[in-house]
Amino acid sequence: MKILTTVKEVREYVKEARMQGKTVGLVPTMGYLHEGHGSLVKKSVEECDVTVVSIFVNPTQFAPNEDFDAYPRDLEHDVKLLTECGADVVFHPEASEMYFPDATTTIVPDVLSKNLCGKSRPIHFGGVCTVVGKLFNIVTPDKAFFGQKDAQQLAIIKRMVRDLNFGVEIVGCPIIREEDGLAKSSRNTYLNPDERQAALCLSQSVKLGKEMAQAGEKNTKVILDAMIAHIEKEPLAKIDYVQSVDAITMQDVEEITGETLFAMAVYIGKTRLIDNFIV
Ligand code: PAJ
Repeated sequence: MKILTTVKEVREYVKEARMQGKTVGLVPTMGYLHEGHGSLVKKSVEECDVTVVSIFVNPTQFAPNEDFDAYPRDLEHDVKLLTECGADVVFHPEASEMYFPDATTTIVPDVLSKNLCGKSRPIHFGGVCTVVGKLFNIVTPDKAFFGQKDAQQLAIIKRMVRDLNFGVEIVGCPIIREEDGLAKSSRNTYLNPDERQAALCLSQSVKLGKEMAQAGEKNTKVILDAMIAHIEKEPLAKIDYVQSVDAITMQDVEEITGETLFAMAVYIGKTRLIDNFIV
C-alpha cells in the first residue's frame, strides 16, 4: 500500500491506474480508523479495481469550540488496518496541501444542512462538502463510499453530487456496531468506563424506535417520545436532538409515509454521539 501526501502524487497515481483501464474507489475519512471505516474500504475493494482512502482531519468542518485539536490520530494503526482491508493508496495530506491560505471558494449546502446536526453545528456541513468536493476533484473516483452512521452527511453529499454534476456514484454503507450495540465511532475513545456504559442508551433507543415502527406505528411523535423517555432515564445523557425527517430532504415528518430517518445526537458527558435508523 502506498502512502501519498501531495495532490500531484495522487493525480499521477490515478492517471496511471486509469491508463490501465482500472476503476477507482474513494473512501474519505478523518482517520483513527475502526471496523466501520474498514467496512467501507472492503466494499470499495470489492467494487473497484483500485481503492484510495483519504485520512485528513479537516479543520474547516470543526467550529472553534469543537474537538479539532483533541480529535484522535494514529496513522500507524490506520495504515495497518487499511493494509489488512486491501486498500491500495492512503492519501494523507497536510492542511497546507489541501487549503490555500487565501482560498475564497467553498461549497455551501443549503436546506439539507440546516436541520438535525446542522442546528448545533452551523458551519460543519459546508466544511464537509468543500473538502469532499476537493477530494472528488483530486481523486476523480468512479465510486465513493460513505457510512449510514452519518446519515445527514450522506444525504447532503448525494445531493451535492447531483446538484453540481460530480461524475461519481455515491455508495451508502450500513452502520457497524460494537457487540453491545454502540455504533462504532472514533469519538468513542473519549468515553470513560461509566460513560461507555451510559452511551448504550443511544443504540437501545434506536432498537426501541425501530421495533415500534416495524410493528406498524406510523405516528413519529409516539416513537420519538418513547425513544426520548428511554434516553432521559440515563443520568449521564443530555439530548441535543431526537428527530424524524424525510430520508432525502431532511425535513421533519410527523407520519411515516415514505423513507423516514430517525436521527439523534446525544451528549454523554462532554462527548457528542450520533446514531440513527431508517424505516
Ligand atoms: P469519519 O468520521 O472519519 O468517517 C469516515 C466515514 O466512515 C464516513 O462516511 C462515516 O459515515 C463512516 N463511518 C464512521 N463510523 C461508521 C460506522 N460505525 N459504520 C459505518 N460507517 C461508519 O465522516 C467523516 O469522517 C468526515 O466528515 C469526512 C467525510 C471524511 C469529511 O471530512
